[in-house]
Amino acid sequence: MKKVCVVGTGYVGLVTGACLADLGNEVVCLDIVEAKIERLRAGEMPIYEPGLEPLVRRNVSKGRLRFSTDYTEAVRDADYCFIAVNTPSISGGAAADMTYVESAAGSIAQHVTRDVIIINKSTMPVGSGDLVSSIAHKNLRDTSLNISVVSNPEFLREGSAVRDFLQPDRVVLGSYDQAAARRVGELYVPLRAPIVITDLYTAEMIKYASNAFLATKISFINEIARICDLLGADVKEVAAGMGYDKRIGRAFLDAGLGYGGSCFPKDVKALAHMADQAGLHPQLLDAVMKINVDQRHVVIDKLEAEFGGAGKLAGKTVAVLGLAFKDNTDDMRDAPSIDIIGWLAGAGAVVRTYDPIATETARAVIASEDVTYCESEYEAAENADAIVVLTEWKQFLEIDMERLRDQMRDPDRSAVLIDGRNLFDPEEMTRLGFHYQGIGRGASRRRSVLSNGATPLADE
Ligand SMILES: NC(=O)c1ccc[n+]([C@@H]2O[C@H](COP(=O)([O-])OP(=O)(O)OC[C@H]3O[C@@H](n4cnc5c(N)ncnc54)[C@H](O)[C@@H]3O)[C@@H](O)[C@H]2O)c1
Repeated sequence: MKKVCVVGTGYVGLVTGACLADLGNEVVCLDIVEAKIERLRAGEMPIYEPGLEPLVRRNVSKGRLRFSTDYTEAVRDADYCFIAVNTPSISGGAAADMTYVESAAGSIAQHVTRDVIIINKSTMPVGSGDLVSSIAHKNLRDTSLNISVVSNPEFLREGSAVRDFLQPDRVVLGSYDQAAARRVGELYVPLRAPIVITDLYTAEMIKYASNAFLATKISFINEIARICDLLGADVKEVAAGMGYDKRIGRAFLDAGLGYGGSCFPKDVKALAHMADQAGLHPQLLDAVMKINVDQRHVVIDKLEAEFGGAGKLAGKTVAVLGLAFKDNTDDMRDAPSIDIIGWLAGAGAVVRTYDPIATETARAVIASEDVTYCESEYEAAENADAIVVLTEWKQFLEIDMERLRDQMRDPDRSAVLIDGRNLFDPEEMTRLGFHYQGIGRGASRRRSVLSNGATPLADE
């Protein structure tokens, strides 16, 4: 039984701690936020993550997992100390804010009583392993102890974090101390995943390059979606047709409102910043970020087009379905809904909204005077002039769409539905009487024009 301390008990730290405990290790999850640790001790999850609660409960009851705010007791006996604290963008800037990592590294070193491996699981700029090592060595009280630093970036996705951790595509470990990297690898052996051992900087770069590549795929398909809208093709079918090609793959080719959340936006920004600092202009990354920002505005553009142009949203009631940055999470960090609701409120629209899970986290980031939080999709749609879908919650597919339409202000004449996640079938929605617009579903509009006996758009 290996002794593990995980510093930072958020989406990554809590999942890492619970999963490593489940693999048979003795784990202490440490956080500086007392309220979080108290809730965990009381058996409550501070975050929504499918499958996490039973995993935590099982390992707490077996005595393999506990929670602490006290570095002395959490670090004292640990052979492995993971750093899983937040690394947001610095306020108003692009670089990663390393203050939480620096503080965690210093505190770990001050409290170790035996040789320890510090494992950087937080996403941190290339070269941060050196920073952690130097802070740790400066803070070490007993200089006869040995501290090694291993970078072990995390690739889990919120919403499927437990499964992703336990069934990773690969485990990446980077260090100057290859023996330490192999010792960290021992923790992951039960997962039977490929283990990639590299130098420190390369492991740190693998994380940024992976996130930047996935963000690029998203911005790529969103640009294709805009072209589809103009030329009359259907981006969903385009993505399916492309995805069969093994060189391309189907994943991350869902056109929508762009990427959000706590990782892609800040990581692409941080990588571009690193390139800039090193003297390279990151042209592709800049384009990826610009497309992503513009993509959120597509909802407003489509609404304005439905209502007769710019300035026509004043006084309109818009029902927003979905607030979280993606389905299966309560995480609101950099969610497109924040910008979109801000723009709607700024244009004078009245916003009513419903999210199955993220309402509480949303209240903290979206001012209540801009929005009415509702208990159901149907309540949100009451007297609405338009409905917009901002999150791909699967439960939205269970909505009784006729009932939803009938809640609206004028269901027979102007039931506008902007499907920002391409959840619904355009032809079915048109048949139900919605003025439907997805993202990049130009072909469906061409088909409905044709079925009315009109000329195809391409010939107009
Ligand atoms: N969330 C994801 O999907 C995801 C996926 C892969 C990688 N990452 C990376 O993992 C890291 C953590 O992300 P997260 O989403 O879990 O963050 P989070 O904000 O949910 O959790 C971070 C936790 O660290 C705690 N903390 C901060 N400073 C501390 C300190 N000095 N000592 C102890 N605890 C401290 C905070 O209180 C918080 O509970 C980030 O670098 C992120 O980029 C996140």
